[in-house]
Amino acid sequence: MSTLQDKIKEYRQLFTDLASKVKEAKEAEELRQLFLGRKKGHLTLLFEELKNLPLEEKKAAGKALNEFKEEIQKLMTELEQKCQTRKPERLIDDLTQPGRKLYWGSPHPITLFQREIERIFISMGFSVEEGPEIETDYYNFEALNFPPHHPARDSWDTLYINDKLLLRTHTSPVQIRVMEKKKPPIRIIIPGKVFRRETPDPTHLPMFYQVEGLVVDKGITFAHLKGTLEYFIKALFGEKIKLRFRPSFFPFTEPSAEVDIECIVCHGQDPHCRVCGGSGWKEILGAGMVDPQVFKNVNIDPEKYSGWAFGLGIDRMAMFAFQIPEIRYFYENDLRFLRQFNRK
Ligand code: DAH
Repeated sequence: MSTLQDKIKEYRQLFTDLASKVKEAKEAEELRQLFLGRKKGHLTLLFEELKNLPLEEKKAAGKALNEFKEEIQKLMTELEQKCQTRKPERLIDDLTQPGRKLYWGSPHPITLFQREIERIFISMGFSVEEGPEIETDYYNFEALNFPPHHPARDSWDTLYINDKLLLRTHTSPVQIRVMEKKKPPIRIIIPGKVFRRETPDPTHLPMFYQVEGLVVDKGITFAHLKGTLEYFIKALFGEKIKLRFRPSFFPFTEPSAEVDIECIVCHGQDPHCRVCGGSGWKEILGAGMVDPQVFKNVNIDPEKYSGWAFGLGIDRMAMFAFQIPEIRYFYENDLRFLRQFNRK
């Protein structure tokens, strides 16, 4: 029968053989279990045997066994470290392989478009203001010259929270909030989310973005409104774009207008154009001269001051600019769509 010392020798040899074949962390773990496993590891079993040895042999064998255990533990630790740092061989096989490109994310297309609009107005001396998305009936309607029960309220399908609070249907209430605090001259734009009771379809959603503009000073005329909007639209769509002003109605402006721009897809040449419906024009914003009653509501003297305002839908305009057929694409979080706007 072989002595414990002989067995140590055999196991040392076995360990060396097996360790030379280990390549991955998983295999190292298996080898550790085989030798150092608590219940059936070779070393555990050798220690069991040690217990049964006669006393005179026990001392020397015990010493050898302890040394063997330490040796195996040290070698195992080294082996495990090697497995962790070793790279999978596949990766260094082919140095000509292209690197993997990381996608870092990018601003949302609506954010990009909003920033572009802000940039143009800031360059004309405007500043950017914000207001609350939950509004009172007073700011959203009454102060903007919509009396209670006035039929004009019907054009804004409102989501009410209770009798007094609602989700703002447009960014116009921020005009009132700003004019209450600041006295003219005022030159601001107000971007933000607005909410309406709409059923989602390719061109409608219950939440979308608007930008409001407001200018108040002495001697402001409709000519300033036309000139500023013309400069803005040309900065956004190019010098050649045509625009037209159509008479319209808003309770908070008098006179009021709607602004159309030439269809950038068919230029009025396609009677079946999907973008403009064949008219050659696309409505993009509402505007007008601030109604004297609105000035009275915020204690600005309409005899002394005049002003103009406009409101446009960012989503709609971005759809037109990027030729996106579905407003819902903006909010589906489909990376195949969103990544197209990454300018990096
Ligand atoms: N608030 C209007 C809307 O949501 C848009 C608008 C029209 C804003 C005329 C204005 C304006 O400031 O003067 O449809």
